[in-house]
Amino acid sequence: MTATDHPVGLLLGAEEDWPTAFEALAARLGVLTAPDGSTHTVSTERMTIEPFNLRDRPHHELVIDRLAHWYYHPREWLKKVALMDDVYLLNSPFTFQSMEKHSAYCALMRLGMNVPETVLVPYKHPVDNARWAYTSARYNRGFDLDEIAASLGYPLYMKPFDGGGWRGVSQVRDREDLHRAYDDSGEMLMHLQASVPDYEHFVRTLTIGPETMAMKFRPDEPMHDRYAVVHGFLSDEVGREVVTTSQTVNAFFRWEFNSCEMLVKDGVVYPIDYANACPDVAVTSLHYYFPWAMTALLRWSTYCVVTGRSPRPHIDTAPWFAVADDPALGHEDRLAAYQALADAHFETERYREFCATTLAHVPEMVLDWVASDDFRRMLTSTVQQTYPPQEWDRFEAHFGGLVGLWLSDQHR
Ligand SMILES: Nc1ncnc2c1ncn2[C@@H]1O[C@H](COP(=O)(O)OP(=O)(O)O)[C@@H](O)[C@H]1O
Ligand SMILES: [Mg+2]
Repeated sequence: MTATDHPVGLLLGAEEDWPTAFEALAARLGVLTAPDGSTHTVSTERMTIEPFNLRDRPHHELVIDRLAHWYYHPREWLKKVALMDDVYLLNSPFTFQSMEKHSAYCALMRLGMNVPETVLVPYKHPVDNARWAYTSARYNRGFDLDEIAASLGYPLYMKPFDGGGWRGVSQVRDREDLHRAYDDSGEMLMHLQASVPDYEHFVRTLTIGPETMAMKFRPDEPMHDRYAVVHGFLSDEVGREVVTTSQTVNAFFRWEFNSCEMLVKDGVVYPIDYANACPDVAVTSLHYYFPWAMTALLRWSTYCVVTGRSPRPHIDTAPWFAVADDPALGHEDRLAAYQALADAHFETERYREFCATTLAHVPEMVLDWVASDDFRRMLTSTVQQTYPPQEWDRFEAHFGGLVGLWLSDQHR
């Protein structure tokens, strides 16, 4: 009997590094035997952008999207294939579009997480609409920006309600900064957010399906040095909360490939940014953690297509809010209940079993590939596309060294 092939589409922007890695690893997967004895292969294809009839039938079973957050033609294609063709998408295009930072803050506040105090202020500049002048004169209430800032305390952060990639973010240290930042915000709609001063850790997690990697992040360093390679830097309790928070965001919004930023101070976890549905997975930022990310992306995509996991892109707030609103539950109990909901959503136990059987050869396979000349070529070409020629040697040594460290850690 021939194996069933599962075509996975890659909807890409300007990235070459991880797609090359993903394609190489999918090609090495070989014929897989599912728990029921049936046999499968996974193939990859880069998607192209072209006119589509809304009744066209796509042949992809799963699509990994990296483009729709700024290119709307493919975004509308994603919505069509989600609604009409049951194509499996790692991130729901519906919530992706509507659930900016602001909605994510609201959801996590309702779920009882320690989101710093946040205030949304009206636009600085008039809204471009003929009705604005009348509406504003009649209904916009004057407000005291200084008073709001004082209630949050300095320093605070001013950032767009739908931000990403540090666009429009400023740290506000005093009154002068405050008015400058607000005057500069122009047509952007801004949050003022209390900061968590003197935090012990900035944790950035990457979550793919039910797998989460918590990494120590140093936002003030240049890109190539932001992720520190340190293990066990969180207590067990904080580590669990960081994982649960990340997986809660994703299971709640139906995202399966997302990053989450949290600040940790005195054992308290403060989530600050967790709607990054096109998370950075560049080898030049993740370095040591890149093989982990590729393994998780490959395993989760494979699990979804081989087991025929049903896409469920539409959110169901009820079970989450039932936990949130239960007065009998303390913080720890709530976290445990959210983790259980996330595990049920991601079929975590069944996924682990699948990884241990059908995909048992994957860790060794990834190791071989990372140690191969193919990997080296990918790294070299990424370094050459990312940095000016006089930096090539330095960065090749830097990233090669960190990936080498990962390789030797696996052999221990
Ligand atoms: N409440 C906060 N407390 C401390 N630092 C913050 C806070 N909000 C933002 N920052 C800093 O600003 C950076 C950018 O803000 P963030 O909310 O992550 O926006 P973006 O979506 O653009 O990444 C963060 O990585 C962090 O360094
Ligand atoms: Mg951020």
